[in-house]
Amino acid sequence: MVLACKQGDARAGLAARRRQARVARGRPGGDRLVLAEGRAVIVTIDGPAGAGKTSAARELARRLGFEFLDTGAMYRAVTLAALRRGVDLADPQAVAELARSLHIELHGSRILLEGEDVSHAIRTAEITRLTHFAADNPAVREHLVQLQRQAAAQGNFVTEGRDQGTVVFPEAECKFFLTASPQERARRRQLDLAARGDWRPLDEVLADQNLRDQRDASRPVGPLRQAADAVVIVTDGLTPEQVVERLEQLVRERL
Ligand code: DC
Repeated sequence: MVLACKQGDARAGLAARRRQARVARGRPGGDRLVLAEGRAVIVTIDGPAGAGKTSAARELARRLGFEFLDTGAMYRAVTLAALRRGVDLADPQAVAELARSLHIELHGSRILLEGEDVSHAIRTAEITRLTHFAADNPAVREHLVQLQRQAAAQGNFVTEGRDQGTVVFPEAECKFFLTASPQERARRRQLDLAARGDWRPLDEVLADQNLRDQRDASRPVGPLRQAADAVVIVTDGLTPEQVVERLEQLVRERL
């Protein structure tokens, strides 16, 4: 899937999908959802950092035979590009101009920035800490939201982020809000960092997380919010496998 910088009309894709309301369900090839020709389905997964969204969304997409769109990776890629090019992240206009000029490609979990695979480079603690500049920038959001809609107009998608069910795809067929207690999320993040050789005390991880939660929830454009029609899943005490099972079951019930 190529996310270029063209200013196409993503709303046309949404309208087309709305007209394609009915979805045919079948399992001739196994457990895959089979959709009638030309019909596209969007499943959105929003929630705070550390709720297990990315792995759940990726696995759910695989099971359903859908594409997977990690929208956080796009904000991270803009941040990485700004750092590399010496663009001042605190200058909203410069960052927005940069975002509009970038060529970003998403292929499932792989992300290419100007043709370079930056899937790992966007996951560092520094990028995590600095991505709020791009995420809080209304012009950057406007551009990335447009790219997300263009991408999703191409087929069936599981999309993951903060604003997918509320702002980007308010008409999505299935919406989920995945969350977990702050302590549980911080514990997972600590394990994740440790696995990458970055051991940090839990209270430090929790403090960083609280700051990011607060920023995510309070940004004027595209804040983290639960859509009124989203199904909430609290992942405390659930294994990743159990979370995906639940999501898949709910999607299949609905389609
Ligand atoms: O999910 P993540 O940690 O990769 O997200 C990176 C940052 O981007 C995080 O600060 C939240 C923000 N984000 C956002 O504002 N909107 C999205 N749709 C996805 C992520």
